[in-house]
Amino acid sequence: MYDLARTLLFALEPERAHAAGLSALEAAHRIGMQGLVAGKPRQFPVKLWDRTFPNPVGLAAGLDKNGAHIDALLSLGFGFVEVGTVTPQPQPGNPPPRLFRLPRQRALINRLGFNNEGVDALVRNVERAQRRTGLLGINIGKNAGTPNDQAERDYLHCYERVYPLADYVVVNISSPNTAGLRELQEEQALRRLVGALRDAQEGHAARHGQRVPLLVKIAPDLSDHDIDAAARVLGDLQVDGVIATNTTVARHGLDGIPAARETGGLSGAPLLGKSTAVLRMLRTRLPESIALIGVGGIMSGADAAAKTAAGATLVQCYTGLIYQGPRLIGRCVDAIRRRKEAPSRGHLTGEH
Ligand SMILES: Cc1cc2nc3c(=O)[nH]c(=O)nc-3n(C[C@H](O)[C@H](O)[C@H](O)COP(=O)(O)O)c2cc1C
Repeated sequence: MYDLARTLLFALEPERAHAAGLSALEAAHRIGMQGLVAGKPRQFPVKLWDRTFPNPVGLAAGLDKNGAHIDALLSLGFGFVEVGTVTPQPQPGNPPPRLFRLPRQRALINRLGFNNEGVDALVRNVERAQRRTGLLGINIGKNAGTPNDQAERDYLHCYERVYPLADYVVVNISSPNTAGLRELQEEQALRRLVGALRDAQEGHAARHGQRVPLLVKIAPDLSDHDIDAAARVLGDLQVDGVIATNTTVARHGLDGIPAARETGGLSGAPLLGKSTAVLRMLRTRLPESIALIGVGGIMSGADAAAKTAAGATLVQCYTGLIYQGPRLIGRCVDAIRRRKEAPSRGHLTGEH
C-alpha cells in the first residue's frame, strides 16, 4: 500500500507531498485505518533513563515540527517520536523551494530553517495527544533572529515550557539551516549553553518531582578534534544522552547530480557512513552513563543494527521512512532484536 502512496506523493512538489502525507496519515488514524500503511507494531522493550521504550526505533525530529501528529505517527509502530525543532516564537523558515529529493541516491536536501508555530502552539498540541503506544522527545532550538550570544535565553525558555511534557528533551545546535547555529557546538559556547540547561534541569526536576533526560544533537561535519572537545564537555556536564547525527553539509559522492548543488542539509543513504562513524567515535569517548541515539541514513534493518553495533541504544529515521514507508520500522526492530539475541556478537562489540 505504501508503494502506491509513495508514487502519488512523489508526483507532488516535496513540501506539498510532506503536508499531504501527514494529512492522509492523520485522517487514516482518526478512523482507525492507519493499518493500511503501518505494519504490525513490534514490542522489543528497551529500558533507559527510568523509562521503557516499547521498541528502540523512533522518528527523528523535523517531520512533525509542531507536535500536531504525535498519536498518528506513534501508530505506525515507532517506539518513540521526536517532535520539533520548536523555537520560542513562531517563524516561517527560509523561502521555498527548500526541500529537494535525490531519488536515485535515496536522499533529501532541506533548508527549511526551523519553520514552526512556536513553543506555545507545540505545548497545546502535546497536551492534547494521548501518547498511549510510545514515548515522546521534544527538540528545542532558537529563533533565526536571536544572536548566538542570546541563544541561551531561547533554549531556556523552550526548555521550561516543554519540560513537564517530554520523556526527553533535545538541544538542537546542529542544524545547518540557521546561520551560526553550529558554532554553539564549539567548546566554550557548548559548555556555557549546556551548563545553563543542566542547571535548569536540576531546578525543573526539583519543582516537577521528575527528572527529564537532557540530550544534545550534534552534526556529522565535526572534525575528530571537535568531536573530542564536544565529548569532553558533554561528559563533564553529564548530559543524559547525545543524538548523532543531524544532516550534513558535505556532498561526497554526489558529483554531477544537479539537486546536490542545493544549499542545505543532506539526509538519507549518503549520510549513513559518516553519521555512524561519528556515533562510534562518541561511544569510545563518552562514559557509558551517557546513552547514544543513532540517526542518519537508516534505510534498512541492517543499517539500524549497524548503529546499535556502533554504540547506539536507540535509533531514529526520517528519510528512510519517506523512501521505504512504515515497513522500515518493523524491519529495524527485527534486525536490532536479531543482533541483540546473538549473545557472543554483542559481547565482542562491547554493546551495552
Ligand atoms: C526535511 C527535514 C527536516 C528536518 N528538520 C529537523 C529539525 O527540525 N530538527 C532536527 O534536529 N533535525 C531535523 N532534521 C534532521 C533529522 O532529524 C535527522 O537527524 C537527519 O535527517 C538524518 O536522518 P535520516 O538520514 O534518517 O533522515 C530534518 C531532516 C529532514 C530531512
